[in-house]
Amino acid sequence: MAVTERAQYQPDHLDRGDVIATAKPDAPREHRAPVLMVPGPSNLHPRVYQALLTPMVSHKDPAFLAAMDETAELLRMVFQTRNASTFCLPATGGSGMESSLLNLLEPGDTVVIGHAGFFAHRMVEIAQRLGVKLVTVEVEWGQAIDTARLIAAVREHGARVLAMVHGETSTGVEQPLDGLGAACRELDCYLVVDAVPTLGGTSLPVDELQIDICYSGSQKCLSAPPGLSPITISQRAMRRIETRRTPVGSWYLDLSLHAHYWDETHIYHHTGPVLSIYALREALRLIAEEGLSARFDRHRLHSRALTAGLRALGLKLFAEADHRLATVVTVVVPEGIDSARARAVLLDEFDVEIAGGLDVQTNRMWRIGIMGHSATRANVLLTLGGLELALNRQGYGGSGALAAADAVYAGV
Ligand SMILES: Cc1ncc(COP(=O)(O)O)c(C=O)c1O
Repeated sequence: MAVTERAQYQPDHLDRGDVIATAKPDAPREHRAPVLMVPGPSNLHPRVYQALLTPMVSHKDPAFLAAMDETAELLRMVFQTRNASTFCLPATGGSGMESSLLNLLEPGDTVVIGHAGFFAHRMVEIAQRLGVKLVTVEVEWGQAIDTARLIAAVREHGARVLAMVHGETSTGVEQPLDGLGAACRELDCYLVVDAVPTLGGTSLPVDELQIDICYSGSQKCLSAPPGLSPITISQRAMRRIETRRTPVGSWYLDLSLHAHYWDETHIYHHTGPVLSIYALREALRLIAEEGLSARFDRHRLHSRALTAGLRALGLKLFAEADHRLATVVTVVVPEGIDSARARAVLLDEFDVEIAGGLDVQTNRMWRIGIMGHSATRANVLLTLGGLELALNRQGYGGSGALAAADAVYAGV
């Protein structure tokens, strides 16, 4: 555990670039429709594209206000919550992260952050900018954090906020959250959970887990275009925000202003991103039609098929076995294999994009998303076939990926 009194911002943990050097840099790429097996964004359903073509109306048009209300109700369904304050912020997932910490923390407060990867570190950087007392509970990348350690840290430091990443996209680990919400309520602390790569792909019952603020991004398992951050806020967290001693340090990210923009008063805060909301609403309708539990089963199935194929190739998974995230599969790049070259084969010859690692794992890890509309049998088989070929082009000598995945599908 590390404790910093009045932490200062230190930009020491940068994304060192995750760019594929493709063999065809000049090929016209803009009108292709690659299969997105990166951990976000995911591919869009045709109905979501169609929604983007809805005739433009103003953000005060009754039809758009009704669409906002329907979107909020559908978000309650995916967050598994009855929170009245459930809406989306008009910016990417990072706005959910930043606003949660900014709104709940005041000068003199302490935040405990479960630190197990790149995105948890981003929370740390935000806390450093806020100048609050920062306590991190750390483990090696690839592991989950023992919840008893987190609760002990909240108790010992009298923390105002416990901030956790549910699915750490940089490591492929799903963090257990059981018991954290109840402990936080007992200790007068607020539980913030990042569900950017998990919402709509893995069960995260916000009310049952007693999460105070949970946020996500539109572009991952929800399969809507990037640019929105769905967020849900408990009544007690909203009360806390509205009774702060000091105003929230950002007008634009003040969550109570956004809550009033989305409630029945629809008090103007910003020009709503009309078409993006229509697209998100359509993506959420598709989730309602599929059903949450069928959707979670689908993500688990394709994740199992993908990992069976990867194992058949003799590849090692990065995340510890008991806590693997279904929606982001992380693979250790074998010794002697050029990770970017393999990804370029997938993109140039199979039209499939997978991601590299982040930070120190940039060239040592592949990250494959199993997310939303991208999570299909055809896409999993295409990815495995492409990866097998890409590896063997570099003399790797593995085989059997497709048969292993097929066996998983045959067992359904
Ligand atoms: C766990 C996690 N948190 C936050 C973010 C930031 O989301 P965005 O890139 O939409 O701002 C990401 C993005 O990948 C993420 O995976």
